[in-house]
Amino acid sequence: MRNLWAALFVFLFATGCTNVKTEDVNLIPLPAELTMLNGQFVLNADAKIYYAQPELAVAATYLQEHILKQTGFSLSVVEGADAGKNISLLLNSELGEKDQYALTVNDKGVCLEGSNPRGVILGIQTIRQLLPQSNTEGKSSIGMQAMIVKDEPAWEWRGMMMDDARHFFDKEEVKRFLDMMALYKFNKFHWHLTDDQGWRVEIKKYPLLTENGAWRTYNKHDRTCMKYAKNEHNPDYELPEKRLRPVENDTIVEYGGFYTQEDIREVIAYAADRGIDVIPEVDMPGHFSAAIKVYPELACFNQASWGRTFSAPICPGKDATLQFCKDVYAEIFELFPYPYIHMGADEVEKDNWLKCPNCKARIKKEKLKDEKELQSWFVKEMKAFFDGNGKKLIGWDEIIEGGLPEGAVVMFWRPWAPTAVDVATSKHSEVILTPNSHYYFDFKQDDQTLFRVYDFDPVPEGLTDEQKKYILGVQANSWAEYIPSYQRLEYMVMPRMAALSEVAWNYSKREEWNKFYQRLIPHFSRWDVMKINYRPLDLKGSYLNNAFIGSTEVTWNNPLPNISIYYTTDGSIPTKESTLYTGPFTINETTDFTLRFYRPDGTAADIIKMSYRKEEYRSADKPENVEQGLALAWHEGIARKCEEIEKLPLKQNYVVDGIVVPEDVNRKRGLIYSGYIKIDKDGVYTFTLGSDDGSMLYVGDDVVVDNDGPHGPVTISGQKALAAGYQPITLYYFDMNNGGFISLKVLDSDGNEIELSGDRLWHTPH
Ligand code: ACM
Ligand code: ZN
Repeated sequence: MRNLWAALFVFLFATGCTNVKTEDVNLIPLPAELTMLNGQFVLNADAKIYYAQPELAVAATYLQEHILKQTGFSLSVVEGADAGKNISLLLNSELGEKDQYALTVNDKGVCLEGSNPRGVILGIQTIRQLLPQSNTEGKSSIGMQAMIVKDEPAWEWRGMMMDDARHFFDKEEVKRFLDMMALYKFNKFHWHLTDDQGWRVEIKKYPLLTENGAWRTYNKHDRTCMKYAKNEHNPDYELPEKRLRPVENDTIVEYGGFYTQEDIREVIAYAADRGIDVIPEVDMPGHFSAAIKVYPELACFNQASWGRTFSAPICPGKDATLQFCKDVYAEIFELFPYPYIHMGADEVEKDNWLKCPNCKARIKKEKLKDEKELQSWFVKEMKAFFDGNGKKLIGWDEIIEGGLPEGAVVMFWRPWAPTAVDVATSKHSEVILTPNSHYYFDFKQDDQTLFRVYDFDPVPEGLTDEQKKYILGVQANSWAEYIPSYQRLEYMVMPRMAALSEVAWNYSKREEWNKFYQRLIPHFSRWDVMKINYRPLDLKGSYLNNAFIGSTEVTWNNPLPNISIYYTTDGSIPTKESTLYTGPFTINETTDFTLRFYRPDGTAADIIKMSYRKEEYRSADKPENVEQGLALAWHEGIARKCEEIEKLPLKQNYVVDGIVVPEDVNRKRGLIYSGYIKIDKDGVYTFTLGSDDGSMLYVGDDVVVDNDGPHGPVTISGQKALAAGYQPITLYYFDMNNGGFISLKVLDSDGNEIELSGDRLWHTPH
């Protein structure tokens, strides 16, 4: 039968010139090879799903379920070969050794071949995206565009992490998450099951871990979430009732939840049916205080406590502690069938180890140099236990400090430890890339975020081809301190996850951003049907802070046809009773808008504040003795707000030809750029300021962009009406951990970018 398909392929290829373009099908991620053909396969309820090998029974049923959901057609599933106008699934090992698949759609039917069952599941996701998400009109047949797809992933590891410790998501929510992952061809579900704030996995030998360790009274994250829920009328931030339990005769409410081992098995099976491996993380030796709280003897001084920044870790000096860790992992190994298991090992505050007699004795006995080597010794101990059980240990990139255990897998997350990937791959350790600068999906989103995820090259420069072989792939992490509900999790990951899927699947063959953006738009309607609580796309060409002279037209270009915008001008939170935006309108006074985007099901996105300020052109200064370039002062130290920068000791003065960071400026940076920007003509200028961490831009005494505070990458724009001449600017920027960057883009009133260098920038020398 394979020959028949091959013959058909040749025939169609020869005659297959077609007007249909690849972008007409909006597949995400885009297949490696996609050839559009003339014609279509007309799918109706009479079609059957054939599967050629018994290993594909699960895939056939999975496809059947989704066709039913998406079209209403209840297809029968038949083991055996295709017999006409049908869908057939088969294995073809000749496709390769990765999870490849080949899909042919023509007027005769749909043939999906996979190199293995995983390949077939991946191809099913493509079929799902070729079908509508729902058949609300009740059509009796649906046309599928004819095409040939040959596809394979760029990377073996296409991961998403869920943090259940900070806030708990129940197993039905986990399944919804897995469904989203599957649709976008992710295949590794990293499950962060334990941390200071809660222990979520049942361990039979230590029942208190979940009986008590899974519960807590409200913590500061809970309280912040509740405050957002209230102040911003945002139900996404509410702590779900189902996570609360009254204790002590109803006098106290506790938050929590956990998975029984039975739940875990159910989730693993559900994930497997969707081609997804489940990788648990039981984070140790730090981030362990949920367990220490119930088994205090695990810690150096027999109590849970906090150090300067992180919680006090377990005591690697006590043999009983090591045994406890191994007992826990023994049950984890039993539960999770895949080779990779994550042991965390990030952010360990080691102060107690320097004071603890048991730790000191361990350091002495094992001839270790210091507490860093003690951590490394602990990781090696655990690694030996993993090895003995046939498991591969993954650790966060801190496992490199004090000596990387041979063969341990490194999960890179700290751009401020930039040599980690080089060191790990040169030692032939596998590496997974999850840099927090781009792939931490708990970080706030703005109008640049999606582009930054899509466009970013996660592979550090300078690796040899040999080193690159050790890069397994990419992953996004969504830490849940401020994600108290499942719908909030969806809001944080969608649409970013779709953008990441292109990196994970296509990496070096990604299309240009605009093409992806166009393909993405129809996916929002899909998510409407799937009831995914996505973050809508940003308005195109709008800024949060606008300036105008006289009067201006307010135009909000919403790229999503399914979203309605309601707004207020009195500062109140918009509801569906507020004014509906129906088209451009004119204002002639300063106006502050509060906008809220509503999805078709009536749920709302986060509020957006937009101001339109009526201004006069700011007169230019007339400085004397100016010289080219901006003055830059580097204040060395750690600031948390721009106003703190000047209080740090001045380290060095520079003159710079642009908003750049001189090479010798180290990670402890507070930078102040000052001088003049030379403006050619009167107009309203747009300043787009991006930074990680905070930044502030002033023109004269006026704040034009406030991007202050410690944060990940955030880009904010502001406008200012400026007269021609020398306009004084001051730009503050600080970075707390060297993951950071600063960028400033200026547009004139015609929307043309002004090059910020050369005779644009001036300063008065001291
Ligand atoms: C991490 O974000 N602490 C891995
Ligand atoms: Zn100790």
